[in-house]
Amino acid sequence: MHQEELFKQLVSHCKEYGFIYPSSEIYDGLGGIYDYGPMGAELKNNIREYWWKAMVQLHENIVGLDSAIFMHPKVWKASGHVDAFNDPLIDNKDSKKRYRADQLIENEIDRLEAKIEKEVEKARKRFDNFDEALFRSTNPRVLEWAKRIEDISRRLANALKTNDMTALKTLIDELEIADPESGSRNWTEVRQFNLMFSTQLSNIAGEEGKLYLRPETAQGIFVNFLNVLKTSRQKVPFGIAQVGKAFRNEIVARQFIFRMREFEQMEMQFFVRPGTEMEWYKYWKERRMAWHRAVIPEAKLRYKDHDNLAHYANAAVDIQFEFPFGFKELEGIHSRTDFDLGNHQALSGRKLQYFDPDLNEHYVPYVVETSVGLDRMFLAILSTGFAEETVPDAQGEDSTRVVLRIPPALAPIKCAVLPLVRNKEELVAKAREIFDRLKFHFMCQYDEKDAIGRRYRRQDAVGTPYCITIDFQTLKDDTVTIRERDSMLQERIPVSRVVDIVRQKTAMIQLLEQL
Ligand code: GAP
Repeated sequence: MHQEELFKQLVSHCKEYGFIYPSSEIYDGLGGIYDYGPMGAELKNNIREYWWKAMVQLHENIVGLDSAIFMHPKVWKASGHVDAFNDPLIDNKDSKKRYRADQLIENEIDRLEAKIEKEVEKARKRFDNFDEALFRSTNPRVLEWAKRIEDISRRLANALKTNDMTALKTLIDELEIADPESGSRNWTEVRQFNLMFSTQLSNIAGEEGKLYLRPETAQGIFVNFLNVLKTSRQKVPFGIAQVGKAFRNEIVARQFIFRMREFEQMEMQFFVRPGTEMEWYKYWKERRMAWHRAVIPEAKLRYKDHDNLAHYANAAVDIQFEFPFGFKELEGIHSRTDFDLGNHQALSGRKLQYFDPDLNEHYVPYVVETSVGLDRMFLAILSTGFAEETVPDAQGEDSTRVVLRIPPALAPIKCAVLPLVRNKEELVAKAREIFDRLKFHFMCQYDEKDAIGRRYRRQDAVGTPYCITIDFQTLKDDTVTIRERDSMLQERIPVSRVVDIVRQKTAMIQLLEQL
C-alpha cells in the first residue's frame, strides 16, 4: 500500500477503534490537540510503563520524579526559553496561511532528495549489474542536485544559528518557494515566534504573574536537582526521569499526533562529572537505540546528528523513525553541559552543585538528556504494526483483515475471551467464569456478539495477541483454543494453563530482557 494511503487509513483506524479522537470533535476539533480513546489510553499507558521500567526500574542510579506543569516564571528566563524558544514564522499574504520558514526550505530539500532517489531507481531498472555508489558519484544531474541540497542545508543551518530572518527570506525567494496550498509566492517577511503558551496568576498582576505552560518537562528536573540529590542518596553519575505533559504553540501542527500543541514527553536528565559527558552521551545514544529496537524493526530507525544545535547543547543526535511521511525525529539525545544548572544557579542565587568525594571538589554537574515523545512513540508503534492483508476465512475463501502487529507487551488488550456461540447458556457461563479469573492478571475483553470470525477480526484490529475460544469440547474436557494474532494458529490447551501462557507471552519482561 502507498505510504500516504496507509497513513490516511491509519488515522481513520485510530478513530474507528477508539485509539485517538480529534479533541472537542463535536465543535469541529481543535488544531494540533487530540484525545486518546479506550484503546489508545491502554497503549499509551503500556508504552509509558515500558519506558519507566527500562529507565527507572532497570537502573539503580536513575530515580523518578513527577513535577508540576506550572513553574516559577524565572525558570523559563534561566532556561533560555523566554528569549530563544522561537520558530521562524512566515505568512502568505494571499492565502493568509501561516508556515514555518525553515520547514518550507526543508520541504525543498526533501523535493530534491526525492528527485535523486527517482533518478537512481530509473537507472537501476535500466542497467544490469547497477553500481549505485558509482552512479551517485558520477551522474551529472544527481551531482548537481546533491550540491544544491548541500548548499541550501548549509545556508539554512547558518541562518538558524545566527537567527538571521532576512537570510531565511532570501532563501525562500531565491528558491522560488510557493505556498504549498495556493501556489502563491506573495510572502511577508520572516519573524521569530515564541512557542510558549502563557497564562496569568489570579493574585499577581502584570509580567510578575505571567505563567508559562512548560514546553519541556526537563526544567522540573533541573530545579529539583538538589532536592533529589539530598533525598535519594544518589551520587554522580545519576539520573532523574520524568513523564509528563508539555505544551508548544506550534506554528504548523500537522501529521496527526506527530506535531501537537499538547503532548507528552518521557525525559531523563543524567548528571555527570564535567569532562565525562561525551562518554555518557555515547552510552545513552546506544542504550536508547536498543530500547527502540526491542519494539521497532532496525531498518525503520536511524541516527541523525543535529546540524543546528539547540541553545543549550554541545552535542545532539536524533533517533529518527521512518514514519509514513519519511524519516523524522522520534527521540532527541542532547549533551546539555552545565547550561541549565549553571543558569538556574546564577538566577536563583542557590548553589546547584555536587560535592564529589573522589575528587574532593564541588562542581556543577554536566547533563546528558534523553527525550522521547510519548505520542510520537505511539505513532511509531502503530504505523509499524498496522497492516492490511489477505487471509483465508473460515470457509477457506480469501478475505482481508486489518491487523495491528504490535508487541504483545504493549497491546491494549492482552487476551479476548470468546464463547463460540452466545445462545448456549453453559458456554456463556464457562466463558464468563474464565474471563472473571483472567481479568485479575491482565487487560481482557469478553465478547460474545457476532460470528467467531468477525470477533477475531475485531481483536486483530486492536492488536489483541491472544483469543481464547470456549466451545463445546470445553464443557467436556476443560480445554479451550488459544489463537495467536499474527500466525492465526490455534492450539488446544487446558483452561488451567491460560493465565500462565498469556502472562508469560505478554509480560513486559519480554521486552526488558532484550535491553
Ligand atoms: N527537553 C528537550 C526537548 O524538549 P525536543 O527535541 O524539543 O527536546 C523532545 O523534544 C521530543 O519531544 C521530540 O523528540 C519529540 O518526540 C517530542 N516532541 C517535541 N515537540 C513535539 C510536538 N509538538 N508534538 C509531539 N511531540 C513532540
